Amino acid sequence: MCGIVGYIGKRNSQEILLEGLKKLEYRGYDSAGVAVYTADGLQIKKAKGRIANLESKLDETPLNGSVGIGHTRWATHGKPSDVNSHPHTDNSLKFSVVHNGIIENYITLKEELIAKGHVFVSETDTEVISHLIASVYEGDILKAVQQAVKHMTGAFALGVLTEFEPDRLVAVRQASPLIIGIGEGENFIGSDIPAILEYTRNVFILNDGEMALLTRDSVELMTLEGNFISREMFHVDWDIVTAEKAGFDHFMLKEIYDQPKAYRDTMGSRILPDGSGVTLNELTITAEAIRNISRVHIVACGTAFHAGMVGKYVIEKMARIPVETDVASEYRYRSPIITKDTLVIVVSQSGETADTLAALREAKRCGAHVLAITNVVGSSVAREANDIITTWAGPEIAVASTKAYTSQLIAFYLLGLHLAQTLGTQTQEEIAEVIAAMRALPEQVEQILEQAEALKVVAEEMAKHDNLFFIGRGLDYAVALEGSLKLKEISYIHSEAYAAGELKHGTLALIEDDIPVIALGTQHELLEKTVSNIKEVKARGANVLGIAVAGETELQKSVDSTFIIPKTLDVLTPALSVVPLQLLSYYASLARGNDVDKPRNLAKSVTVE
Ligand code: F6R
Repeated sequence: MCGIVGYIGKRNSQEILLEGLKKLEYRGYDSAGVAVYTADGLQIKKAKGRIANLESKLDETPLNGSVGIGHTRWATHGKPSDVNSHPHTDNSLKFSVVHNGIIENYITLKEELIAKGHVFVSETDTEVISHLIASVYEGDILKAVQQAVKHMTGAFALGVLTEFEPDRLVAVRQASPLIIGIGEGENFIGSDIPAILEYTRNVFILNDGEMALLTRDSVELMTLEGNFISREMFHVDWDIVTAEKAGFDHFMLKEIYDQPKAYRDTMGSRILPDGSGVTLNELTITAEAIRNISRVHIVACGTAFHAGMVGKYVIEKMARIPVETDVASEYRYRSPIITKDTLVIVVSQSGETADTLAALREAKRCGAHVLAITNVVGSSVAREANDIITTWAGPEIAVASTKAYTSQLIAFYLLGLHLAQTLGTQTQEEIAEVIAAMRALPEQVEQILEQAEALKVVAEEMAKHDNLFFIGRGLDYAVALEGSLKLKEISYIHSEAYAAGELKHGTLALIEDDIPVIALGTQHELLEKTVSNIKEVKARGANVLGIAVAGETELQKSVDSTFIIPKTLDVLTPALSVVPLQLLSYYASLARGNDVDKPRNLAKSVTVE
């Protein structure tokens, strides 16, 4: 987590740093700070809380200078406070460091430095880096950083400045993302592309174990050992407007409304024009290798994991291959059985989630073929996987994932069809039927979005409660989990998602008068059973909102109110039924006066384990 940005050029760096930090605020918003090389040397300003607090401080006493680094923090080591904010410095106040990641051996390093007389002021691991660099500095900041990183273990993307060499900015990437932006007479660093996109579209994406030396007129890329690297420049062809709110009150709402486009873009030319099949030209896995797959593991975190749960149903149904799903933080520690015939699918919006990346590496180490479903081209996951299906959702800024999740579902449908085509597990008619229904999804999402006002009213009522349940069977259970996570993370209402048949094994004890229950009943074969479970909660006083498919009346008769989604194939319902749940969470969060896009304690990109 945390976002870093850096500038070396001719313009006022304070403004560029602040603008960059605002774009990166989704990565953490416990505190923010900047260090700028001014006429009085390196000056640091930092403030606990949102970037606006830092901005006010800088309004009062601006930092004038054309070289600087900035940071927005998601606290790991040390509570959110001014003193724990970045940039950090050393006792001479001549060095300044911003860091994203965790230095695992910082306690040992700190003890060694204290023994040598260094005095620390913060509780952070990052402060150790600035002291370490200062302690090995002999007139060349590049060499000092190279020397210092040899002693550090863990994850670190760094921006480093020293007052002794005001025309050089050093950037390092080791297991935390970092990109370099190339301008004319100015260069940039950033944790991601939107942070610098206003100023340049030409970037170098650093790999782990690489660093860069930036001056105003040059960028040199090298390994941490100092071996120079030549790299092709990456030209960003998407627009910053895609990453802006486009008139919506919040990024989350905009991203919910982006979904029809995200579905269309993700399907795109991957669906044959005549609708007879799909083509995933980007995949390198051969038909023979597909025929040899003995099992599939789907590994991801949070919302991406919930997409993976839908993926399991889809692949098992369409391709008849056994699938296991795991949360990434558990996967590699449970000694999973991974062979050369295992296809491991990692799902990650950001492509930078530390646990997912670690699972990917473990799977590769065991010889599995790793296929990534990710939204960020050039991300670590995208670069390390053997195969990638990119979801074309566009940048997702709100911490709560919406369009990335639904685009992941589309990716799973495409993959399921691709596997089925190769293995012959579905007939031509069955494949064409799924494709026709998929093509209708964007318009059907639009129909749901037209009913947002009705959901707002329901959400405002829901927001008065402290506890809530989601129930469903089969695919509806997978969507219930996602609906519950969304609600928790932005409205802070406690909710539980239960496989509807499992309630009576304990949780039913929690159902009391007037408690809201959202019951998903979109799976025809399971509907009768779900209705029985709805009756169980209704008998205990629950107030049930049903999510039903158009034309289906059985569920409607047994609930207090119903939200109807357009008719589609059972296997595709998650791509529709989750949309009202996203809107309910959004409006419940609004009703509670929360910061929808930046919920407390969370960050968008989780690059620590
Ligand atoms: C919740 C949410 C998270 C992410 C999770 C994985 O709305 O966004 O649960 O899904 O942190 O992130 P990615 O997909 O970037 O690996």
